[in-house]
Amino acid sequence: MNLFICLALLVAGSSFASKKQRCEFKDCTADCSHMSLNAVPDNLPKNITGFNLAHNRLRSLDPSALSLYPALQVLDVGYNSIQSLASLDGGLCSSLPLLRNLVMQHNVLHLLEEKDLQHCANLTHLNLAGNRLKPRGEPFTALQRLMWLDVSKNALTSVKLGTRPQLQNLVSLSFSGNALESILMDDLLYLSSSSLEVLKLSSLPNLKKIEPGCFKPIQGIKVLIMDDSKLSPQLTSLLCEELSGTAVQNLSLRNTGQVSLSTKTFEGLNATKLRTLNLADNKISQIEDGSFQWTPQLEALSLEGNNIKHLRQGTFTRLSNLRWLSLCHALVKTHTAPSPVIDDFVFEPLSRLEDLCMRYTAMRGITAFTFSGLVSLKSLDLSWSSTGIKNINNQTFASLAGSPLETLNLTYMAITYLSPGAFSSFGNLTTLLLAGNFISQLLTGSELEGLQKLEKLDFSFNHQKLSLTTSSFIHVPTLKALLLGSALTGSLDMEPSPFHPLVNLTWLDLSNNNIANINDRLLEGLNQLQKLKLEHNNLARLWKDANPGGPVLFLRGLSRLTVLNMDNNGLDEIPRNGLQGLHNLQQLNLSANVLNNLRDSIFADLSSLRQMWMQKNLVTSVTKGVFKPALANLTQLHLERNPYDCTCDSILWFVEWLNHTNASVPGLYENYICNTPPAYNNRSIMDFDPLSCKDMTPFQALYVLSSTVVLTMLVTAFLIHFQGWRIEFYWSVMVSRTLGLRDEHVEEGRYEYDGYVIHAARDGGWVERQLLPLEDEGIGFFLEDRDVVPGCSQLQSIVENMGKSRKIVFVITERLMQDPWCRRFKAHHALHQIIEDSRDSVVLILLQDIQDFHLHSSLLLRRGMVKPSCVLDWPVHKERIPAFQQKLRLALAASNRVE
Ligand SMILES: *[C@@H]1O[C@H](CO)[C@@H](O)[C@H](O)[C@H]1NC(C)=O
Ligand SMILES: *[C@@H]1O[C@H](CO)[C@@H](O)[C@H](O)[C@H]1NC(C)=O
Ligand SMILES: *[C@@H]1O[C@H](CO)[C@@H](O)[C@H](O)[C@H]1NC(C)=O
Ligand SMILES: *[C@@H]1O[C@H](CO)[C@@H](O)[C@H](O)[C@H]1NC(C)=O
Ligand SMILES: *[C@@H]1O[C@H](CO)[C@@H](O)[C@H](O)[C@H]1NC(C)=O
Ligand SMILES: *[C@@H]1O[C@H](CO)[C@@H](O)[C@H](O)[C@H]1NC(C)=O
Ligand SMILES: *[C@@H]1O[C@H](CO)[C@@H](O)[C@H](O)[C@H]1NC(C)=O
Ligand SMILES: *[C@@H]1O[C@H](CO)[C@@H](O)[C@H](O)[C@H]1NC(C)=O
Repeated sequence: MNLFICLALLVAGSSFASKKQRCEFKDCTADCSHMSLNAVPDNLPKNITGFNLAHNRLRSLDPSALSLYPALQVLDVGYNSIQSLASLDGGLCSSLPLLRNLVMQHNVLHLLEEKDLQHCANLTHLNLAGNRLKPRGEPFTALQRLMWLDVSKNALTSVKLGTRPQLQNLVSLSFSGNALESILMDDLLYLSSSSLEVLKLSSLPNLKKIEPGCFKPIQGIKVLIMDDSKLSPQLTSLLCEELSGTAVQNLSLRNTGQVSLSTKTFEGLNATKLRTLNLADNKISQIEDGSFQWTPQLEALSLEGNNIKHLRQGTFTRLSNLRWLSLCHALVKTHTAPSPVIDDFVFEPLSRLEDLCMRYTAMRGITAFTFSGLVSLKSLDLSWSSTGIKNINNQTFASLAGSPLETLNLTYMAITYLSPGAFSSFGNLTTLLLAGNFISQLLTGSELEGLQKLEKLDFSFNHQKLSLTTSSFIHVPTLKALLLGSALTGSLDMEPSPFHPLVNLTWLDLSNNNIANINDRLLEGLNQLQKLKLEHNNLARLWKDANPGGPVLFLRGLSRLTVLNMDNNGLDEIPRNGLQGLHNLQQLNLSANVLNNLRDSIFADLSSLRQMWMQKNLVTSVTKGVFKPALANLTQLHLERNPYDCTCDSILWFVEWLNHTNASVPGLYENYICNTPPAYNNRSIMDFDPLSCKDMTPFQALYVLSSTVVLTMLVTAFLIHFQGWRIEFYWSVMVSRTLGLRDEHVEEGRYEYDGYVIHAARDGGWVERQLLPLEDEGIGFFLEDRDVVPGCSQLQSIVENMGKSRKIVFVITERLMQDPWCRRFKAHHALHQIIEDSRDSVVLILLQDIQDFHLHSSLLLRRGMVKPSCVLDWPVHKERIPAFQQKLRLALAASNRVE
């Protein structure tokens, strides 16, 4: 029960799915098919001329509903359940005076009487196929303009549709698929005044009898089609006899069960002018010599799909007018029977034959006379045939030497080798097809000698065993199409290029060859090239920037190129000028590579691009800078299956382009998926909201501004913290110098003392021992404890005496740094002196190892403020003391001027 409901739902669902909701209009035609209608809709525009109501549930045609559309010329009510035309009684055709074409196939019409169609004189086409018609009386007499009548598949037992002559304008009558058993002498009499040309009597499995004289009333018949009817040999020859004297030109006996043809079979066609005879898909194995002698006018003969064992010299006698002969699949080899035989000179009578198809033909070999006599042959198709020939040499096709052959199809023939001069007798050949063979050799050029007019050469699918040399195509400079897909082995990196002679080449296929190594002159000079196929190779390295010598720009100069395929090449880079100059390119395929970051402007020249394939790469962003020129005029884009980064920078421009483009972008909603950021992961890029980027713009500016400010402040703070003193110091020095505070004119000689010594009280011992002895050499020190005039204020004394000393000597120890006087005033003043006079007036003697920052924090001094020669470290080793003293002497004697 449940299953039943499920099924019912399924059926209902599927019928719903295929159902249209409303009629569609096109060119004044209303299409209301497949709508489950029970009645003719009455709400359509009144001026429609065509009305399709097929595949509905109409049971009758309501003339009053149809009369709403008086302009109707074509009415299709096929595939409904209309039972009778009786309801049209005086109705349908009179309410539709302009109706020309009435289609009523596949309904359940039964009785058909004269009155049913009596007002339909204007009909020209009437299709009543697939009903269960039972004509009564003369139903068709009124149809004086009818040209085309189809009453096939009606289980009719007679072709007799009337007794009086009628249907004077009938041209085509289809009677196929009925239960006809015989055609009697007077069955077709009613057509004696018609102009019947085409009679279809296909699929009449019961036909047994054709009475003499039955075709007499339709002598003007030109085409008789009896496909799929079963015709015994007797019936076939009887049929031909009946056709004698008719105008028949085209007889089709396809799949009519013929097994052998004898000289009697077509004898009756002697008195016809038959031009086309189709005997395809029979089981013909024997053809008696002279079987076709009766039809010398024959121009086209198809023996396709038969099982002929032997073609003899007499098989085609008198077919001297034959232009087209198909023997495709006509001679086949079976496991039980030996290969069929084609005698020498079989084709000798066919002196006008232009087109011979021997596709899928098995034969025992090709001799020097197999094709003799085909002096007009232009096209020979031997594809897929088995001849046993592996090596084509200058003897193989010797029998065709006199033919003006233009097309030779040797596709899939298991050929392995082409000898020099193999095609030398084919001076008029334009197309040579050698695809799908096993040709394995070095193409030196001599193989193609003599092909002076060759335009198309196809070596595709030769199992990658063909090697080229620089002279391979030297004899075929006229080539326009050269197909080498899946054909090549070895290197193409040679100079000059094998393609060098092909100045008129427009189409070159080098796909599927694993080509990895070529030079940038491979395609040089191919100025006419329009189509270049390079897919499925290994060209990735050639376009890498890191390639030694730079990227190989092998497309240079191909300005006429319209189609370029480079998919499946492992490409991860497109060099800056890789596609330069391709102004005419219309189709570009770069799919299935690993392209990721594309450089700006690589597509700049592709202004003619119409179709682009770049699906299945690693493209994360589609930006204006890269893609704008390529997408400008596109009709079709394939960029699906890339790992898109759905951020404003990466795809905002693309999403906006997609929203406004007219180009077709298949799979846009299913196959364009965001990979990053996590918020958009696995969602369609069409979910990306462009508005989220609009608000970003002021924020972005603000962000840039504020971060700049913060950064500047940070840098300044660090600078001030670590180097502030230096700035401050040099600033002061500069100011004092520019303001002329320094006493330029004061002579060196004004100093009373050589050095004003500042030391901690407890370092007095060291000063006495180490400095005072220098006074014996004439150096004068000012020592506060010794030289201060009693009664003077301490401050004033310091200022005065520092002014009288050329140098101020600091004896630096931890103790000095703790001395408050020293820290607060002496050092300050010393600094003042440095600034006012010059920075060289200070000498630092470090008795202990003191850190610079420590020095600065307590004395506001740094080593960097003083000349290096004026910073003296008290040596640890005694033997160095004389050196120290010497340095001190020099420091004290040094000029104060800044150099
Ligand atoms: C048919 O009629 C419709 C309006 O009902 C009109 O828009 C249309 O142009 C007409 N077509 C013709 C071919 O007259
Ligand atoms: C046939 O068509 C013409 C216009 O082409 C019309 O005047 C005539 O009435 C039609 N005849 C019938 C029987 O409907
Ligand atoms: C074939 O037709 C020709 C003339 O068209 C006639 O001479 C010849 O006798 C006919 N042959 C037969 C067997 O009817
Ligand atoms: C050549 O033969 C192949 C294989 O049968 C066929 O596909 C192709 O259309 C033929 N080409 C010509 C030009 O006859
Ligand atoms: C055919 O080739 C053979 C050798 O390959 C040569 O001796 C002979 O002259 C050639 N014949 C023609 C007609 O070119
Ligand atoms: C090639 O064709 C020309 C005319 O197009 C003809 O004169 C010449 O004889 C043909 N060559 C051969 C070898 O048939
Ligand atoms: C190339 O084509 C041009 C124009 O069709 C023609 O004049 C020229 O002879 C051709 N060159 C070759 C080598 O076939
Ligand atoms: C776009 O293509 C059309 C048709 O091919 C062409 O006429 C037009 O010039 C192209 N526009 C641009 C901007 O290339």
